Amino acid sequence: MGAAPVVCVVFLCGVLIPALGDKHSLYYIYTALSKDVALPGIYEFTALGLLNDRAIDYYNSQEQVKVPKQDWLKEKMQPDYWDKGTQSRRSKEQWFKVNVEILMQRMRHNHTNLHVLQWRHGCEIDESNGDVTFLKGISEYSYDGEEFLSFDIVNMRWIAPVPEALPTKRKWDDVPILNQYTKGYLEKECVDWLTKFLEYGEESLKKHFKPYVYKFAKKSTTNSSKLILTCLATSFYPKDVVMSLRKSNNSLPEHLLRSSGVRPNGDGTYQLRKSVEIQEDDTADYDCYVTHRALSEPVITKWDRKCRNCWSISSGLVGGGIGGVVVILLTLLCGIIFVLIKKGIIGIPGSKSHWN
Ligand SMILES: *[C@@H]1O[C@H](CO)[C@@H](O)[C@H](O)[C@H]1NC(C)=O
Ligand SMILES: *[C@@H]1O[C@H](CO)[C@@H](O)[C@H](O)[C@H]1NC(C)=O
Ligand SMILES: *[C@@H]1O[C@H](CO)[C@@H](O)[C@H](O)[C@H]1NC(C)=O
Repeated sequence: MGAAPVVCVVFLCGVLIPALGDKHSLYYIYTALSKDVALPGIYEFTALGLLNDRAIDYYNSQEQVKVPKQDWLKEKMQPDYWDKGTQSRRSKEQWFKVNVEILMQRMRHNHTNLHVLQWRHGCEIDESNGDVTFLKGISEYSYDGEEFLSFDIVNMRWIAPVPEALPTKRKWDDVPILNQYTKGYLEKECVDWLTKFLEYGEESLKKHFKPYVYKFAKKSTTNSSKLILTCLATSFYPKDVVMSLRKSNNSLPEHLLRSSGVRPNGDGTYQLRKSVEIQEDDTADYDCYVTHRALSEPVITKWDRKCRNCWSISSGLVGGGIGGVVVILLTLLCGIIFVLIKKGIIGIPGSKSHWN
């Protein structure tokens, strides 16, 4: 989000201006597993609220209570909000339990393997000059990481990319009021909550955390005449970051790099790792170039190729404890999301309508 245009600017001019707009997002992610996997931090059902990619509330099938993940949210919302939220999450949990089963039958899957049903829904806005502009609303379901159903907000209907989703699409589209509700929720209710949360969490959300930048050089395991140069930026917030690996001050094209993608650290901050393979006798100057909203100027760190299989800290600022107790859970959850699920899934809030 927002990173792509910045990357282009950097590649074209070698200049870094983090011209990131004032975009904000509120997403809820529900994840239901077909069975208990008996791993710490992994539950049959979890629900997570994310404001600007940071956890604000959490629910799992073990504690069965919706809890705040940010102090400001805890302070601002009445106990009533959490009670209602808990009730709503519990009924969602039941809804998911039933529907995972229905989907498994439809997919002709049995209980031997683990299956995952996810729903992701929420909205994004731009709040540039005090005006709130609705950017997008998303409601999508995924099964085992594949998109299963997604809501077309413009035409107010469900899109079924796989035949198994068609019966559900037809059923839901047959009740226009349900689709009107979903559209209304995404465009209005979600935006209202998002702006309210932004106001409540203003102080905390304004806190940005600089990336620490680390570099390492080590021998390739597959070819001893090659070196792998790696750059790691971590502990930054917000999520948008620009990292390029440069040879003689020129950014290497992305297709030559191996990138981890931006990943959550679990404490509300993020990390990104990129590496490139070079000839051991390559004498050009390589450096790692990182820019981020929290940095007044880019961090540029050079590789000293004499320093093999070692690493050094070149820049950083201690982040401090954002986020909360759910850290490990989130990390594991994200692991599941990444491994099992390429696309999120979303459904209709409060809908009693099952897949069949
Ligand atoms: C369950 O599904 C797996 C994978 O499709 C299959 O190998 C296995 O035989 C099935 N088990 C039963 C009891 O049907
Ligand atoms: C290692 O890479 C070099 C240069 O690409 C190549 O000439 C050489 O054959 C490679 N060695 C092995 C063991 O793959
Ligand atoms: C890269 O940029 C630095 C600082 O601007 C400069 O000192 C250096 O000579 C440049 N290196 C090359 C290879 O252009």
